[in-house]
Amino acid sequence: MKDGVNNLEKKITSHVEHEDFQAFEKFVKRETTQDDAPSAVQIKKNIPIYSGQLVRDCANAFGRKQELLTEWSSVFESGAGIIVISNAVESTSVINTATANFEEIIKAEKLSGNVGDHFAKPGANDRIWNSLQKHCTKDPQNFIDYFCSEAIALASEAWLGPNYQVTAQVNRVNPGGEAQKAHRDYHLGFMSSEQSANWPLHVHAMSPFLTLQGAIAHCDMSIESGPTLLLPYSQLYKRGYIDFTKEKYQKYFDKNSVQIEMAKGDAIFFNPAVMHGAGNNKTRSVKRMANLLQISSAFGRAMETIDRKVMSKTLYPHLLELVMKNKMPFRLIENVVGASSEGYSFPTNLDLDAPINGMAPKTQAMIIIESLKAEKEPALVFEELNLLDIRQSS
Ligand SMILES: [Fe+2]
Repeated sequence: MKDGVNNLEKKITSHVEHEDFQAFEKFVKRETTQDDAPSAVQIKKNIPIYSGQLVRDCANAFGRKQELLTEWSSVFESGAGIIVISNAVESTSVINTATANFEEIIKAEKLSGNVGDHFAKPGANDRIWNSLQKHCTKDPQNFIDYFCSEAIALASEAWLGPNYQVTAQVNRVNPGGEAQKAHRDYHLGFMSSEQSANWPLHVHAMSPFLTLQGAIAHCDMSIESGPTLLLPYSQLYKRGYIDFTKEKYQKYFDKNSVQIEMAKGDAIFFNPAVMHGAGNNKTRSVKRMANLLQISSAFGRAMETIDRKVMSKTLYPHLLELVMKNKMPFRLIENVVGASSEGYSFPTNLDLDAPINGMAPKTQAMIIIESLKAEKEPALVFEELNLLDIRQSS
C-alpha cells in the first residue's frame, strides 16, 4: 500500500508540478473589479453579474457582441471563472412549462423504477439524465423557446467557439438535500486523483478549455435553498484535479466559498475547473430545480469514425490465446487493447450505464482487459460488448 502511495506521488510529481497551497490561496484571494468585467451590472461576491437584456442587445450588434465574448472568455480563463446572467431565459412562462415537463418526466421515471442519481444519496435528489433529448422529444415547441436563448448561445460561444455540443441534466435538490463535496468537473474531474495524475500537466491545463458548465434556475433560489457554492479564481490552480480532494482545500472551500442568490430564469456559467459543489437545501418546502448544462467543444472528436466493437471482437480470440499460452507480456497486450478498443466511458446514456466504482462507467477496453484476465470465453465477451452498446445509446 505504501508503495502504491509512493508510486502515486512519483507519478504526480513527474507529470504535475509540486503542490503549492500558498499559490492556491494567492489565486483565490484575488478580487474582481469593474475593470475586469466592464459590461457587468454589478460584481457580487467577486462574481460579475450581467443583465439578460444587455446580452440580447449585444447579440444583435456585431461589435458589441465581440466585446462581450472577449470579456467573458477572459473572465472564464483568468478572471473569476464564473458569470451570472439574470433573466437569461427571457420568459418565465417558458421556464414554467419546461419545469412542468421535467416534473412529468421525473414522475414517469419514478413509476418505471428509474430513479437513479448515482452522484447523490438516494431520495435526496431527483435527476433527469439527458434532459436535453427528453425535453426536445416531449415538447419540441418549449425546447425551441428555451434553447433559443442568446445567453446560452453567447456564453457557449465565448468559451468554446462555434459548433459547440450541448448536453443537459435536470437536478432537483429536495428540502434537506445535503451539500455536494466540492469538486472540479468534466473531464479530469470525473476521475480519482490517481487516474488524473496519469495525464500530463499540459492536459490538466487544457481540459477545462473543452467544456463549459452552466445551470438555468427553474425556481427562485434563496441562499437558504442552497444554490451552487463556488470558489472564484480556483480554476487558476493547475494541480486542482489532484489536490482539491485533500482536506485542507476542502476546509478552505467550506470557509471561503460563495453563493449567489438566483431568480427563476437566471443562468450561471463557469469554467469546469472552478472548485464548486451544490449547496445544502435548508428550506422546508423549496424543491430547488436547475437544468445543468454541460457544453462541449466541437473539437472533442476524432477525424475518422471507427467501429471499435468490430475490432475488439476480432482481436479478442487472438489476445486470449496469447494470454492462455503466456506468449506475450500482459503489458504489451494492454498496448494492443489501447490501440483498438474504446478506452473512454463517455458519451454514454447515464440512465442505463451507471458508474460502477467511481464516477465513470465501464469501457470497452475495461471489458476486454478484465475478460482476458479471467480468460473468459469469446462468446460471453461479445455479449458483454453488445450489452455495452445498448447501455450507451440514447
Ligand atoms: Fe459539478
